Amino acid sequence: MLSQENLQQFERLQKFYPTKKALTLPVLWMIQEQEGWISVEAMMYVSSLLEIPVGDVYGVVTFYTMYNQQQRGKYHLQICTNISCQLRGADKLVEHACKTLNVQTEENTKDGRFTISKVECLGSCGTAPMMQMNNDFVENLSVEQLDILLNELK
Ligand code: FES
Repeated sequence: MLSQENLQQFERLQKFYPTKKALTLPVLWMIQEQEGWISVEAMMYVSSLLEIPVGDVYGVVTFYTMYNQQQRGKYHLQICTNISCQLRGADKLVEHACKTLNVQTEENTKDGRFTISKVECLGSCGTAPMMQMNNDFVENLSVEQLDILLNELK
């Protein structure tokens, strides 16, 4: 399942990690970068590659929210709805984004461009409300800024 390039990277990384199991996070990340998400087949592949029980891989994938357990849109908008963001209007942002894109949270838009998720604190409470768009933080977010961003990405 790992591309040739990622397999080479895997071989290189093995020199720096004490056990194969210690490579669980980076190998899962490589697969997600390749495939966009972590399927059950991918978890079985990682289990076999690292020689660890598939339950251990599943435990990691389900613990960390950065691993997608389903296919996501090209733009994954993760809106923080924890306390600081909630107090500054996060629920309204989620509602507005869902209404604008005509989806529920965790659904992909029909064109496959967007997925909206509600997430727990992303550690940027001082600039609440905020969301993570793919790997970038968008802070001090307002409904107006969200509209501008969605229009730019459509
Ligand atoms: S509560 Fe939203 S980033 Fe912490």
